[in-house]
Amino acid sequence: MKPLPRLGVFGGGQLGRMLAMAALPLEVACSFYETQADAPAAVLGPTFGDSSDSDAALAAFLASADVFTYEFENIDIALVERIAASKPVYPGIASLRQAQHRLQEKSLFAELAIPTPAWRAVHALSDLEAAARDLGLPLVVKTTTLGYDGKGQYVVRTPADISDCWQTLGAQASLIAESFVSFRRELSIIAVRGKDGETVIYPLSENQHQQGILALSVVPAPALDDAVRRQAEDYIRRLLEHLQHVGALTLELFETADGLLANEMAPRVHNSGHWSIEGADCSQFENHVRAVLGLPLGSTACPRPTAMLNVLGQHPKREQVLAVPGAHLHLYGKSARPGRKLGHITVSADTLAQLQVAIARLRACLPG
Ligand SMILES: Nc1ncnc2c1ncn2[C@@H]1O[C@H](COP(=O)(O)OP(=O)(O)O)[C@@H](O)[C@H]1O
Ligand SMILES: [Mg+2]
Repeated sequence: MKPLPRLGVFGGGQLGRMLAMAALPLEVACSFYETQADAPAAVLGPTFGDSSDSDAALAAFLASADVFTYEFENIDIALVERIAASKPVYPGIASLRQAQHRLQEKSLFAELAIPTPAWRAVHALSDLEAAARDLGLPLVVKTTTLGYDGKGQYVVRTPADISDCWQTLGAQASLIAESFVSFRRELSIIAVRGKDGETVIYPLSENQHQQGILALSVVPAPALDDAVRRQAEDYIRRLLEHLQHVGALTLELFETADGLLANEMAPRVHNSGHWSIEGADCSQFENHVRAVLGLPLGSTACPRPTAMLNVLGQHPKREQVLAVPGAHLHLYGKSARPGRKLGHITVSADTLAQLQVAIARLRACLPG
């Protein structure tokens, strides 16, 4: 049996850790570009990288693997381009570039006729004032780059907030102002595309956030209209094809009375897909590894209703979580800090009603 290519991952957080856990049984060795020696993924392979992104660190990382991927999109494109000059990187630079910048991302959605909340680019205080006039309040104002888990955002509710918002966010960065959407609920869809164009799509997840951070996903999204599901699948297929994407792609959506609006995309495995480790035939992590290595993709079927609860800020009591029938605890080896993603719990049940009971029991296990 010929050995599979080695996989180099930009980033060594929990997503890198779970990618490497999925790669292990396939005998795919992983290495990570990561400066923290105690990063979650470091137990699964060697880490390279230093705080100055030195040539030596990048060269060592380049030599450590045959195919490269990333676990987060906020990477310096120039670094990825240097790797891509000599070895394959999936998903490609086009996917990375579009997903890194909220204005480019929203422009791409428009180009592909994927509806979004109304938005305006903001480069000056006067742009923000004009956006408030044109779109009305409230506005969700976001930095165009480097935002995650609700960071780099400000909800402008009254005209008096405008200057404070500009002081808080605008001074350092370019911004996007979006209409505040009173959505029914948030959904996400994850698809994985192989090098040959083979595409598999996971059932949609219903997602609840707390302070901008994902708290709960339920899959398949309960009571989902079939036309809405097909619409979401159509949107993500348009993105995959346009970008010639290889690997996992996530699209976050708002479900409104008038249909779906696209919020943002991530060119990677996603927190709202962690349920798939136990809940799907083949997890998002394994399918991403398969896709970037050119292997056949696995089934995305979700045989039983499944939930994922994030462990945020404080660790739960292990025994208490594991006493809930069907529960699986995934901890990432991180120390506790307010709001930090320390792990997640998945649970499946035969019916949605039974799943709700399990979710309630698991919620009671989570401190805070
Ligand atoms: N235009 C909007 N209207 C209403 N809520 C929003 C809007 N944009 C973002 N949010 C809320 O903030 C959360 C985080 O915003 P998002 O754009 O997804 O940024 P992040 O990169 O931090 O995930 C969303 O999941 C949603 O709950
Ligand atoms: Mg988001």
